[in-house]
Amino acid sequence: MDERIVSNESQKEDIEQIELRPQYLRDYIGQEHVKEMMSIFIQAAKKRNESLDHVLLYGPPGLGKTTLAHIVANEVDASIKTASGPAIERSGDLAVLLTSLEPGDILFIDEIHRLPRVVEEVLYPAMEDFALDLIVGKDETSKSIRVDLPPFTLIGATTRFGDLTAPLRDRFGVVHKLEYYDQGALEKICKRTASIYDSEVEIEGVAEIARRSRGTPRIVNRLFRRIRDFADVLNDGIIDLSITKTALEKLQIDPLGLDQKDHDYLRGLIENFGGGPVGIESLAASISEEVTTIEDVYEPFLLKIGFVKRTPRGRVATEKAYKHLGHGYQKGLF
Ligand code: ADE
Repeated sequence: MDERIVSNESQKEDIEQIELRPQYLRDYIGQEHVKEMMSIFIQAAKKRNESLDHVLLYGPPGLGKTTLAHIVANEVDASIKTASGPAIERSGDLAVLLTSLEPGDILFIDEIHRLPRVVEEVLYPAMEDFALDLIVGKDETSKSIRVDLPPFTLIGATTRFGDLTAPLRDRFGVVHKLEYYDQGALEKICKRTASIYDSEVEIEGVAEIARRSRGTPRIVNRLFRRIRDFADVLNDGIIDLSITKTALEKLQIDPLGLDQKDHDYLRGLIENFGGGPVGIESLAASISEEVTTIEDVYEPFLLKIGFVKRTPRGRVATEKAYKHLGHGYQKGLF
Protein backbone atom coordinates (compact mmCIF):
# COMPACT_ATOMS: atom_id res chain seq x y z
CA MET A 1 0.00 0.00 0.00
CA ASP A 2 1.09 3.53 -0.75
CA GLU A 3 2.00 5.21 2.51
CA ARG A 4 3.10 8.67 1.51
CA ILE A 5 2.65 11.07 4.37
CA VAL A 6 0.65 13.55 2.39
CA SER A 7 -1.28 12.27 -0.53
CA ASN A 8 -4.55 12.88 -2.18
CA GLU A 9 -5.50 9.32 -1.43
CA SER A 10 -3.82 6.58 0.52
CA GLN A 11 -5.44 3.65 -1.22
CA LYS A 12 -5.59 2.71 -4.87
CA GLU A 13 -9.17 1.62 -4.40
CA ASP A 14 -10.08 5.16 -3.46
CA ILE A 15 -8.50 6.59 -6.59
CA GLU A 16 -10.98 4.55 -8.63
CA GLN A 17 -13.78 5.92 -6.50
CA ILE A 18 -12.91 9.61 -6.77
CA GLU A 19 -14.98 10.14 -9.90
CA LEU A 20 -17.94 8.61 -8.06
CA ARG A 21 -17.49 10.55 -4.89
CA PRO A 22 -20.33 12.92 -4.00
CA GLN A 23 -19.02 16.47 -3.53
CA TYR A 24 -21.61 17.98 -1.21
CA LEU A 25 -23.84 16.73 1.60
CA ARG A 26 -26.92 17.01 -0.61
CA ASP A 27 -25.43 14.41 -2.99
CA TYR A 28 -24.45 12.01 -0.22
CA ILE A 29 -26.90 9.13 0.09
CA GLY A 30 -27.72 7.51 3.45
CA GLN A 31 -26.25 8.15 6.93
CA GLU A 32 -29.14 10.56 7.47
CA HIS A 33 -28.36 11.28 11.11
CA VAL A 34 -24.70 12.05 10.44
CA LYS A 35 -25.65 14.29 7.51
CA GLU A 36 -28.21 16.21 9.55
CA MET A 37 -25.78 16.80 12.39
CA MET A 38 -22.86 17.73 10.15
CA SER A 39 -25.03 20.14 8.22
CA ILE A 40 -25.95 22.02 11.43
CA PHE A 41 -22.37 22.14 12.70
CA ILE A 42 -21.06 23.31 9.33
CA GLN A 43 -23.69 26.06 9.08
CA ALA A 44 -23.03 27.19 12.67
CA ALA A 45 -19.27 27.38 12.11
CA LYS A 46 -19.80 29.34 8.90
CA LYS A 47 -22.23 31.72 10.57
CA ARG A 48 -19.74 32.45 13.36
CA ASN A 49 -16.85 32.57 10.92
CA GLU A 50 -15.02 29.94 12.93
CA SER A 51 -13.32 26.74 11.94
CA LEU A 52 -15.46 23.65 12.42
CA ASP A 53 -14.76 21.66 15.57
CA HIS A 54 -12.61 18.53 15.14
CA VAL A 55 -14.54 15.53 13.82
CA LEU A 56 -13.96 11.82 14.43
CA LEU A 57 -15.61 9.34 12.04
CA TYR A 58 -15.51 5.66 12.79
CA GLY A 59 -16.99 2.46 11.43
CA PRO A 60 -16.20 -0.41 9.06
CA PRO A 61 -14.21 0.26 5.87
CA GLY A 62 -15.93 1.49 2.72
CA LEU A 63 -18.82 3.35 4.32
CA GLY A 64 -17.69 6.83 3.28
CA LYS A 65 -15.48 8.32 6.00
CA THR A 66 -12.98 9.75 3.51
CA THR A 67 -15.80 10.90 1.26
CA LEU A 68 -17.42 12.77 4.14
CA ALA A 69 -14.14 14.49 4.98
CA HIS A 70 -13.86 15.77 1.41
CA ILE A 71 -17.48 16.86 1.52
CA VAL A 72 -16.88 18.85 4.71
CA ALA A 73 -13.96 20.61 3.01
CA ASN A 74 -16.17 21.49 0.05
CA GLU A 75 -19.00 22.64 2.29
CA VAL A 76 -16.78 25.01 4.27
CA ASP A 77 -14.94 26.00 1.10
CA ALA A 78 -11.55 25.00 2.45
CA SER A 79 -8.62 22.93 1.25
CA ILE A 80 -8.07 19.43 2.56
CA LYS A 81 -4.74 17.80 3.29
CA THR A 82 -4.86 14.08 3.77
CA ALA A 83 -2.51 11.78 5.62
CA SER A 84 -2.65 8.39 7.24
CA GLY A 85 -1.75 7.47 10.81
CA PRO A 86 0.95 4.87 10.16
CA ALA A 87 2.63 7.07 7.52
CA ILE A 88 3.24 9.90 10.00
CA GLU A 89 6.22 8.29 11.69
CA ARG A 90 7.88 11.21 13.46
CA SER A 91 6.58 14.26 15.24
CA GLY A 92 8.45 16.38 12.69
CA ASP A 93 6.32 14.85 9.91
CA LEU A 94 3.19 16.07 11.64
CA ALA A 95 4.76 19.47 12.36
CA VAL A 96 5.41 19.92 8.63
CA LEU A 97 1.81 19.05 7.87
CA LEU A 98 0.39 21.35 10.53
CA THR A 99 2.53 24.34 9.58
CA SER A 100 1.46 24.01 5.96
CA LEU A 101 -2.21 24.56 6.81
CA GLU A 102 -4.09 27.74 5.91
CA PRO A 103 -6.77 29.14 8.24
CA GLY A 104 -9.92 27.01 8.10
CA ASP A 105 -8.23 24.11 6.29
CA ILE A 106 -9.18 20.49 6.90
CA LEU A 107 -6.53 18.01 7.96
CA PHE A 108 -7.77 14.48 7.34
CA ILE A 109 -5.93 11.65 9.09
CA ASP A 110 -7.07 8.19 8.08
CA GLU A 111 -6.39 5.23 10.38
CA ILE A 112 -5.81 7.73 13.15
CA HIS A 113 -5.65 4.95 15.74
CA ARG A 114 -2.29 3.98 14.24
CA LEU A 115 -0.56 7.30 14.91
CA PRO A 116 2.61 6.71 16.91
CA ARG A 117 2.25 7.94 20.50
CA VAL A 118 4.97 10.61 20.18
CA VAL A 119 3.18 12.03 17.17
CA GLU A 120 -0.15 11.91 18.94
CA GLU A 121 1.26 14.07 21.70
CA VAL A 122 2.09 16.80 19.17
CA LEU A 123 -1.51 16.69 18.10
CA TYR A 124 -2.96 17.52 21.54
CA PRO A 125 -1.89 21.20 21.78
CA ALA A 126 -2.49 21.56 18.03
CA MET A 127 -6.10 20.45 18.43
CA GLU A 128 -6.74 22.24 21.69
CA ASP A 129 -4.89 25.55 21.34
CA PHE A 130 -3.87 25.63 17.66
CA ALA A 131 -0.29 25.56 18.87
CA LEU A 132 2.81 23.54 18.18
CA ASP A 133 5.33 22.95 20.95
CA LEU A 134 8.75 22.61 19.37
CA ILE A 135 11.82 21.44 21.23
CA VAL A 136 14.90 23.34 20.10
CA GLY A 137 18.47 22.54 21.05
CA LYS A 138 19.78 19.40 22.69
CA ASP A 139 20.04 18.01 26.23
CA GLU A 140 20.39 20.63 28.98
CA THR A 141 20.31 23.56 26.53
CA SER A 142 17.05 22.41 24.95
CA LYS A 143 13.92 24.43 25.44
CA SER A 144 10.37 24.32 24.24
CA ILE A 145 8.98 27.10 22.09
CA ARG A 146 5.36 27.47 21.17
CA VAL A 147 4.42 28.26 17.58
CA ASP A 148 0.92 29.41 16.70
CA LEU A 149 -0.98 27.45 14.09
CA PRO A 150 -3.88 28.69 12.02
CA PRO A 151 -7.28 27.50 13.18
CA PHE A 152 -7.99 24.25 11.38
CA THR A 153 -10.30 21.25 11.58
CA LEU A 154 -8.91 17.80 12.13
CA ILE A 155 -11.04 15.02 10.73
CA GLY A 156 -9.89 11.65 12.01
CA ALA A 157 -11.12 8.35 10.61
CA THR A 158 -10.80 4.92 12.14
CA THR A 159 -12.19 1.42 11.86
CA ARG A 160 -11.20 0.86 15.51
CA PHE A 161 -12.77 3.36 17.85
CA GLY A 162 -11.68 1.26 20.84
CA ASP A 163 -8.00 1.54 19.88
CA LEU A 164 -7.97 5.32 20.21
CA THR A 165 -6.39 6.63 23.38
CA ALA A 166 -8.75 8.47 25.70
CA PRO A 167 -6.88 11.81 25.45
CA LEU A 168 -7.13 11.78 21.67
CA ARG A 169 -10.77 10.67 21.65
CA ASP A 170 -11.66 13.42 24.11
CA ARG A 171 -10.28 16.16 21.88
CA PHE A 172 -12.85 15.58 19.15
CA GLY A 173 -15.92 17.79 19.56
CA VAL A 174 -17.93 15.80 17.03
CA VAL A 175 -17.91 11.99 16.96
CA HIS A 176 -19.96 9.93 14.53
CA LYS A 177 -20.25 6.26 13.81
CA LEU A 178 -21.03 5.36 10.22
CA GLU A 179 -23.50 2.48 9.91
CA TYR A 180 -23.97 -0.12 7.20
CA TYR A 181 -26.35 1.15 4.48
CA ASP A 182 -29.80 -0.30 3.95
CA GLN A 183 -31.04 -1.82 0.68
CA GLY A 184 -32.80 1.40 -0.43
CA ALA A 185 -29.71 3.57 0.04
CA LEU A 186 -27.48 1.02 -1.71
CA GLU A 187 -29.88 0.94 -4.68
CA LYS A 188 -29.79 4.73 -4.92
CA ILE A 189 -25.99 4.69 -4.83
CA CYS A 190 -25.94 2.03 -7.54
CA LYS A 191 -28.29 4.06 -9.75
CA ARG A 192 -26.18 7.16 -9.20
CA THR A 193 -23.04 5.23 -10.20
CA ALA A 194 -24.81 3.90 -13.31
CA SER A 195 -25.78 7.39 -14.35
CA ILE A 196 -22.23 8.74 -13.83
CA TYR A 197 -20.91 5.92 -16.04
CA ASP A 198 -23.80 6.40 -18.47
CA SER A 199 -24.70 2.71 -18.12
CA GLU A 200 -28.09 1.23 -18.87
CA VAL A 201 -29.36 -0.62 -15.79
CA GLU A 202 -32.58 -2.47 -15.06
CA ILE A 203 -34.04 -2.16 -11.60
CA GLU A 204 -33.74 -5.91 -10.91
CA GLY A 205 -30.02 -5.70 -11.65
CA VAL A 206 -29.65 -2.71 -9.33
CA ALA A 207 -31.50 -4.53 -6.54
CA GLU A 208 -29.28 -7.58 -6.92
CA ILE A 209 -26.07 -5.53 -6.80
CA ALA A 210 -27.35 -3.73 -3.69
CA ARG A 211 -28.28 -7.03 -2.01
CA ARG A 212 -24.81 -8.42 -2.52
CA SER A 213 -22.84 -5.36 -1.42
CA ARG A 214 -22.65 -6.07 2.31
CA GLY A 215 -24.20 -2.72 3.19
CA THR A 216 -21.13 -0.97 1.77
CA PRO A 217 -21.05 1.69 -0.98
CA ARG A 218 -17.44 0.89 -1.88
CA ILE A 219 -18.55 -2.66 -2.65
CA VAL A 220 -21.54 -1.42 -4.69
CA ASN A 221 -19.15 0.54 -6.86
CA ARG A 222 -16.56 -2.22 -7.08
CA LEU A 223 -19.16 -4.80 -8.10
CA PHE A 224 -20.77 -2.34 -10.47
CA ARG A 225 -17.53 -1.82 -12.40
CA ARG A 226 -16.94 -5.54 -12.75
CA ILE A 227 -20.53 -6.30 -13.77
CA ARG A 228 -20.34 -3.47 -16.28
CA ASP A 229 -17.37 -5.30 -17.87
CA PHE A 230 -19.49 -8.43 -18.28
CA ALA A 231 -22.41 -6.39 -19.61
CA ASP A 232 -20.23 -4.56 -22.14
CA VAL A 233 -18.74 -7.78 -23.47
CA LEU A 234 -21.76 -10.10 -23.29
CA ASN A 235 -24.95 -8.04 -23.09
CA ASP A 236 -24.64 -4.88 -25.24
CA GLY A 237 -23.75 -2.94 -22.09
CA ILE A 238 -27.13 -3.55 -20.48
CA ILE A 239 -26.98 -4.41 -16.78
CA ASP A 240 -30.04 -6.59 -16.20
CA LEU A 241 -30.67 -9.27 -13.59
CA SER A 242 -29.37 -12.09 -15.73
CA ILE A 243 -25.96 -10.56 -16.56
CA THR A 244 -25.66 -9.37 -12.96
CA LYS A 245 -26.16 -12.90 -11.66
CA THR A 246 -23.79 -14.36 -14.23
CA ALA A 247 -21.08 -11.85 -13.33
CA LEU A 248 -21.51 -12.28 -9.58
CA GLU A 249 -21.29 -16.04 -9.93
CA LYS A 250 -18.05 -15.73 -11.91
CA LEU A 251 -16.75 -13.28 -9.32
CA GLN A 252 -17.58 -15.86 -6.64
CA ILE A 253 -19.82 -13.53 -4.72
CA ASP A 254 -22.54 -15.56 -3.04
CA PRO A 255 -26.23 -14.53 -2.72
CA LEU A 256 -25.54 -12.69 0.56
CA GLY A 257 -22.54 -10.90 -0.90
CA LEU A 258 -19.98 -13.06 0.88
CA ASP A 259 -16.79 -13.60 -1.08
CA GLN A 260 -14.07 -16.24 -0.99
CA LYS A 261 -12.38 -14.64 2.02
CA ASP A 262 -15.61 -14.74 4.04
CA HIS A 263 -16.03 -18.37 3.03
CA ASP A 264 -12.45 -19.17 4.04
CA TYR A 265 -13.12 -17.60 7.42
CA LEU A 266 -16.40 -19.44 8.00
CA ARG A 267 -15.10 -22.74 6.69
CA GLY A 268 -11.98 -22.36 8.80
CA LEU A 269 -14.09 -21.75 11.88
CA ILE A 270 -16.49 -24.61 11.19
CA GLU A 271 -14.21 -27.23 9.64
CA ASN A 272 -10.96 -26.62 11.52
CA PHE A 273 -12.35 -25.69 14.92
CA GLY A 274 -15.74 -27.39 15.11
CA GLY A 275 -17.48 -24.01 14.92
CA GLY A 276 -15.55 -22.60 17.87
CA PRO A 277 -15.08 -21.13 20.31
CA VAL A 278 -11.64 -20.39 18.95
CA GLY A 279 -9.21 -17.56 19.55
CA ILE A 280 -8.81 -15.08 16.72
CA GLU A 281 -5.05 -15.74 16.46
CA SER A 282 -5.53 -19.46 15.86
CA LEU A 283 -8.29 -18.83 13.35
CA ALA A 284 -6.21 -16.20 11.53
CA ALA A 285 -3.22 -18.55 11.33
CA SER A 286 -5.36 -21.39 9.98
CA ILE A 287 -6.57 -19.28 7.05
CA SER A 288 -3.31 -17.34 6.56
CA GLU A 289 -4.86 -13.96 7.18
CA GLU A 290 -3.85 -11.08 9.42
CA VAL A 291 -5.76 -10.71 12.67
CA THR A 292 -6.39 -6.99 12.05
CA THR A 293 -7.73 -7.65 8.54
CA ILE A 294 -10.11 -10.25 9.93
CA GLU A 295 -11.24 -7.95 12.72
CA ASP A 296 -11.57 -4.79 10.64
CA VAL A 297 -12.71 -6.08 7.26
CA TYR A 298 -14.39 -9.48 7.51
CA GLU A 299 -15.87 -9.84 10.94
CA PRO A 300 -17.96 -6.66 11.25
CA PHE A 301 -20.38 -7.77 8.52
CA LEU A 302 -20.42 -11.43 9.61
CA LEU A 303 -21.27 -10.24 13.13
CA LYS A 304 -23.94 -7.92 11.79
CA ILE A 305 -25.71 -10.67 9.85
CA GLY A 306 -25.46 -12.99 12.84
CA PHE A 307 -23.12 -15.59 11.33
CA VAL A 308 -20.49 -15.21 14.00
CA LYS A 309 -20.53 -14.38 17.67
CA ARG A 310 -17.70 -13.06 19.81
CA THR A 311 -17.69 -14.82 23.14
CA PRO A 312 -15.24 -14.53 26.05
CA ARG A 313 -13.77 -17.87 24.94
CA GLY A 314 -13.43 -16.94 21.28
CA ARG A 315 -15.28 -16.81 17.97
CA VAL A 316 -18.28 -19.06 17.45
CA ALA A 317 -20.12 -19.85 14.20
CA THR A 318 -23.91 -19.68 14.50
CA GLU A 319 -26.51 -22.03 13.09
CA LYS A 320 -27.17 -19.47 10.32
CA ALA A 321 -23.55 -19.74 9.18
CA TYR A 322 -23.70 -23.55 9.15
CA LYS A 323 -26.88 -23.49 7.09
CA HIS A 324 -25.51 -20.95 4.66
CA LEU A 325 -22.49 -23.13 3.96
CA GLY A 326 -24.67 -26.25 3.75
CA HIS A 327 -23.15 -27.83 6.84
CA GLY A 328 -25.14 -29.76 9.43
CA TYR A 329 -25.31 -27.76 12.65
CA GLN A 330 -23.88 -29.42 15.72
CA LYS A 331 -25.43 -27.65 18.65
CA GLY A 332 -24.06 -27.88 22.13
CA LEU A 333 -20.38 -27.94 21.28
CA PHE A 334 -19.86 -24.62 23.01
N1 ADE B 1 -20.68 6.86 -3.38
C1 ADE B 1 -20.11 6.24 -2.37
N2 ADE B 1 -20.76 6.47 -1.23
C2 ADE B 1 -21.78 7.28 -1.53
C3 ADE B 1 -22.81 7.86 -0.77
N3 ADE B 1 -22.94 7.65 0.53
N4 ADE B 1 -23.66 8.66 -1.40
C4 ADE B 1 -23.54 8.86 -2.72
N5 ADE B 1 -22.60 8.33 -3.48
C5 ADE B 1 -21.73 7.54 -2.89
